Amino acid sequence: MTSEQSSSARSFDHHSPEHAADPVGAYRAVREGPGYAHSDKHGGFTVLCRYADVVAIARDTENFSNALEVPGGFKGGVTLPHNPAATRMSLSEMDPPEWNPLRRLLNPTLSADAVARFVPQIRAVTNYFIDRFIESGRCDLVFDLCSPVPAVVTLQYLGLPIDEWERYAVPIHTSVYTPREPGHPDFEYLNRQFAWIFDQIRSAVADRRSARQPDDLITRLIDEGLDDDLVFETVYTMLAAGVDTSTSVLSAALLHLSKHPDQRQRLLDEPRLLDHATEEFLRFYAPAQATARTAVVATEIAGVQFKPGDRILLAWASANRDAGYFDDPDEFVLDRAPNRHVTFAHGIHRCIGAPLARQELRVILDEVLRRLPDYSVDADQTPTYPDVGLMYGFQKMPTTFTRGRVEGTRLQPELDDIGRTAPGP
Ligand code: HEM
Repeated sequence: MTSEQSSSARSFDHHSPEHAADPVGAYRAVREGPGYAHSDKHGGFTVLCRYADVVAIARDTENFSNALEVPGGFKGGVTLPHNPAATRMSLSEMDPPEWNPLRRLLNPTLSADAVARFVPQIRAVTNYFIDRFIESGRCDLVFDLCSPVPAVVTLQYLGLPIDEWERYAVPIHTSVYTPREPGHPDFEYLNRQFAWIFDQIRSAVADRRSARQPDDLITRLIDEGLDDDLVFETVYTMLAAGVDTSTSVLSAALLHLSKHPDQRQRLLDEPRLLDHATEEFLRFYAPAQATARTAVVATEIAGVQFKPGDRILLAWASANRDAGYFDDPDEFVLDRAPNRHVTFAHGIHRCIGAPLARQELRVILDEVLRRLPDYSVDADQTPTYPDVGLMYGFQKMPTTFTRGRVEGTRLQPELDDIGRTAPGP
């Protein structure tokens, strides 16, 4: 590294406005330079940007921890910096052996087979929301479709009432880009909204304990002997992890197709390409840009020495554009294959919700192409998040299209099955 590169690298800040203006370029500079950068920001950390290095650390759960409290008395966690007010992310911020039984319990509830049974419901929810705006010829794709559908689907999976979807979806979406400034009206408003969400989850857990309720995820977690705190953490994590991630990549995909009518036409002509396109949208527009690990012992990876307590940022979005692994990585290739992106991470902590996210993407894209084939996004009015350190996404997406007809899709009773979990392992 030259001294100029080294001093700019030390100020690498994935939460800065400069980074938000060009995250692809910022990661490329590190990836195509030394591959890593030490930074003094946020208490100090090292960002790793090459596919092989990111994957090597993600696999090495002996030497690198996901936990909030790391052996040796260090503070860890998967967000960098860690927000001390935040609830622990269940599974994600646990290390083995604590992690194993919970993951084993949850895996079958979100397996590809379990999620395949959700598809009619995902389609129904999508059409219900399209019905709400199709006669007007205009909508905001983020607020009217990409945010509500994953929210309703996730609430149903968890066993929380769907009629309040907006009170969950809007704060979860807006919290991603609202400045964490105590006293700021937006921040205080969000705190009140999150207090309401926490109350809802806690009282749903209390209800299930006092009287047996439907066969939903909360009941199942209680039946398996989890204490209330762990049920709360798990339900909250599923909500936080499942809602805005899918929203982000869906809106990116819809904006992309609006900007590239030739590719949209190809998908309309060859719907079998939807599976490949879904994977390419996930690779190209990774919502979870980077998550953190903490070194447990002194170790070396990619020529970088780590000592216990060192914080490391794994840049999934950068790994997805590593020319050593993807031909023409900065090209969006609708039918790219193979496509071993790491948008859902890698190793044991690989996203448990990946099958659900994939189905949401496929179904919503399919229905938008069917019902709003000529939609057009006002691309000048689609600001990305001002901070993309953790999540990349769009604040809003005003859109127009030729008016269509309501199909009369109802949310109930089509969704009665969605909260039911698959048989145990
Ligand atoms: C496009 C959508 C999604 C993306 C890009 C995404 C991305 C990720 C990533 C990168 C991780 C790993 C974090 C780490 O270990 O550092 C993760 C873990 C996780 N995700 Fe997702 N996610 C998505 C959707 C979902 C959905 C729909 C759910 C649940 C309904 C979900 C639940 C989880 C959980 C519980 C974990 C922790 C897994 C573990 O540590 O064993 N995610 N996700």
